[in-house]
Amino acid sequence: MTVLEISDLIVRHDLASGAALPVHRDAVLAALRAAGDRRGARIVRRLPHHDGVLDAAAVDRILVRTHTELQRLNEELRIADQLAELLVPVLRAVTRPGERARVVDVGCGIGYAIRWLAATGTLAANTIDAELCGVDFNAALIGEARRLAAAEGLECRFVLGDAFDLKDTATVYISSGVLHHLRGEELGAFFRAQAGTGVRAYCHFDIAATRLAPVDAWMFHRARMREPLGRHDGVASARRAHSDHELMSAARSAAGAGADAVPADAAQQPVLRVRAADPRRAARALAGGAGGARAGGAPPGRGDRAGAPAVVSAGFAVPVTLALLALVDGALAGHRAATGRSGLIRKRAYYVVAMRRGLAAGAAVLGGLALVLGAVLAAASDPAARYGQLTRAGIAMLWVLGPFAIAVLATLAGYFTLPRRPATFLILLGLGPLTLIRPWLTVAAGIVAAWTAPAWPVAGCAVLAAAGVLLVEPWVHRRWYADPHIGAAYRGRIRGRISGLLTGSRAGCCVRDRCGP
Ligand SMILES: C[S@@+](CC[C@H](N)C(=O)[O-])C[C@H]1O[C@@H](n2cnc3c(N)ncnc32)[C@H](O)[C@@H]1O
Repeated sequence: MTVLEISDLIVRHDLASGAALPVHRDAVLAALRAAGDRRGARIVRRLPHHDGVLDAAAVDRILVRTHTELQRLNEELRIADQLAELLVPVLRAVTRPGERARVVDVGCGIGYAIRWLAATGTLAANTIDAELCGVDFNAALIGEARRLAAAEGLECRFVLGDAFDLKDTATVYISSGVLHHLRGEELGAFFRAQAGTGVRAYCHFDIAATRLAPVDAWMFHRARMREPLGRHDGVASARRAHSDHELMSAARSAAGAGADAVPADAAQQPVLRVRAADPRRAARALAGGAGGARAGGAPPGRGDRAGAPAVVSAGFAVPVTLALLALVDGALAGHRAATGRSGLIRKRAYYVVAMRRGLAAGAAVLGGLALVLGAVLAAASDPAARYGQLTRAGIAMLWVLGPFAIAVLATLAGYFTLPRRPATFLILLGLGPLTLIRPWLTVAAGIVAAWTAPAWPVAGCAVLAAAGVLLVEPWVHRRWYADPHIGAAYRGRIRGRISGLLTGSRAGCCVRDRCGP
């Protein structure tokens, strides 16, 4: 069955002038319906439009948001590090001493790879002199790439147009997440157009066509992206990934005399592939250069009802442990709320502020909960017994949340200390799934504690505590990081539904001043 990506359907450019062309919503919907993609059709039906033509400004904003979230995914999976690991030896292999190379990112989007190389100075640190350039057909993405590069004072440039029709020839072409967009004849045409530029080597990264790729993609896009279009296209990309055979055939058929296409070490990283045009020198350089860079790689006790000292220590340790967990969770929630919202490369200060905000929100929730707990204790006929009950409810929560917290902290420790490859696997197998199950586990902890509580005020406190923990991330996101356009569109839809209910008309999508079925 044909698998479509919405981002391919909602933008059209005049190839000669680069100007954006109008896109008719019904044509996009018909294509998605014909492909049996009802979810995709639902997402497109919600897009703002003017008399059936998609609102170009809104589409641009969605694409920029989606690419910013994609950058966050690339940052977490350290895609740019992997690119540099291959690019450095390839550049060494194909440039003459003292020559200035030109690295061109085909379909650069908001320019993450190029800006990362510029911001980290990775090539210069490897004594490679290179001009860094990103090229894309999409004006909104190029505009965002330029804005972000200027904001950080980066030495790189971004060009609107066809990467294979540049005034100055590239020494090495790179790309990430582009090849799977090219269907049928387009893939061969891409490699032929590239070969026609006289480029010396290329490293194209894309999703590997493994059976697990769509599952991985679903999990990661679900855990890390908010934009429905990004989530949809992320899974579609994995389903559309070309097999090794297809890629090698297309690349080889365009290689030309004296050159060949070679796959990079297949075991290197399951989601990526690299192609280099000059196999002998690049492979020699890879063997010598990349090897070094690639090197390396009890639940709390039950509340004791029998012994007074144990009760006293549990009565202190349990609330303190839960409060500490809530504060750490608040800081991490602040981090998550801010992710995918800034395309800058150097974001340490941005994330510190976000974590402080999460911490403050977590502390506020804890403060509110402490007041409720105080009231519950004050209202109890036997406050000491009620305190014991609350402590036991806290222990029940810790039985559920404790192992989860240990797993998260261990995964984070591994991610920051292990070499890149095992660290990336930890993300794939650990942090991604853990983020997905966190809300469910928090709800489960509240339910277990409430279910086993001997009195309803204790059960209520357990439910309130779980709800408070879950509130922090949406609160911080909404307060500081939500896109105002999404809020406006959402409010518009709610208003449309309410007025539809009041007037008896069928509720439809209503975004700002435009309504549709
Ligand atoms: C999915 S986006 C790539 C995202 C980006 N590389 C990233 O990792 O965030 C694919 C982009 O490739 C661009 N593209 C494809 N072929 C191109 C070419 N020959 N020249 C310039 N841009 C191209 C499209 O305009 C589209 O924006």
